[in-house]
Amino acid sequence: MRKQIKNNVSWVGYLDWELQTFHGDEYSIGNGSSQNAYLIEEEKTILVDTVWAPHRNEFIENLKAELGDLGKIDAIIVNHGEIDHSGSLTELLREIPGTPLYCTANAVKSLEGQFGKQGWNFNVVKTGDSLEIGNGKKLIFIEMPMLHWPDSMATFLTGDNILFSMDAFGQHFAVGELFNDKADQCLLWKEAMKYFVNILNPFAPMLTRKLAELDKLALPIEMIAPSHGVIWRDDPMQIVRKYAEWAAAYQEDQITIAYDTMWQGTEKLAHRIASEIHRLSPTTVVKVFNISRTDKNDIMTEVFKSKAILVGSPTECNGILSSVEGWLGFLKSLKFKGKKAAAFGCYGWSGECVKILQERLAAAGFQVIPEAVKCLWNPGEEDYAAVTAMVEAIL
Ligand code: FEO
Repeated sequence: MRKQIKNNVSWVGYLDWELQTFHGDEYSIGNGSSQNAYLIEEEKTILVDTVWAPHRNEFIENLKAELGDLGKIDAIIVNHGEIDHSGSLTELLREIPGTPLYCTANAVKSLEGQFGKQGWNFNVVKTGDSLEIGNGKKLIFIEMPMLHWPDSMATFLTGDNILFSMDAFGQHFAVGELFNDKADQCLLWKEAMKYFVNILNPFAPMLTRKLAELDKLALPIEMIAPSHGVIWRDDPMQIVRKYAEWAAAYQEDQITIAYDTMWQGTEKLAHRIASEIHRLSPTTVVKVFNISRTDKNDIMTEVFKSKAILVGSPTECNGILSSVEGWLGFLKSLKFKGKKAAAFGCYGWSGECVKILQERLAAAGFQVIPEAVKCLWNPGEEDYAAVTAMVEAIL
């Protein structure tokens, strides 16, 4: 079902509720996600993106109900080829074959790679190219490579001054009323940061350059309509400013401890380390997470906010716990910058855990301090003295 967002522009996406909560007349939220597609109806009718394949039938039926005839669609803008936005194309183009698709050269590769060569009517665009859509309005295309795929682009609608920003500036968050000013602000910013950290942080240097380029284009942006989450209409540039801040090796006065444990020895160390940080630096926020029990994306968001992290695992079979090994691989992929790290863990026999953790943390780009806590069996007073030395060093 369409929802008007401005003049002749409507949201025609899909709210993927896992749990929906209503807060009086103010807002409804869901801990799901949303795939935002948009319909522009000027002299030409333009569809901006589609939704994920499992929702394609409902999406296409909704479009038919709204337009009466899918043949009214003059063109489809494909800002990005990932399947959560392109997943309805095959079905849709079966109904309206030959409809022009506007996308980047890389999007042709990703679409044909995923869906095969189907003879679709591709029109390749690059930054600065535009498409007249009638009533004095046009669409201007802006390539956004690596934000977050090589095929990504954004599209700006003149007149209404809406930037369809694709994945950039999104959140995995569903708000029934669609707009940022209708959302619970605490949840919105938590989700916006989590999305940035887990999807865009690896590309932060490219993002910084792209934001500068966007600034030079001096587009009179009045609304930012991403492909996930809320539409930014209240001070839309606030999310752009926030991205600039987050992309510049952001950190707060926080230290995060992430660990897994076999028989609670490493867990005891984790909590002792947290208490010691708080004792020696009471204003520093300290957070402790068991890697096996917490959403890895949530922990990474806390790592992003931290100036330092401490990672713990016991030794198991000459290695570290597989949960920690996998988590460290994900940590490396997010390319955090300017953060310190230290390692700790218990062992009973061979004791490789600390060395392996230090190697992994260094490979992930952290400045690893040599002070560590390696504890034979369960932690005792000697180990707690080493905790103090490690915490002093990391602080
Ligand atoms: Fe929302 Fe990169 O897809």
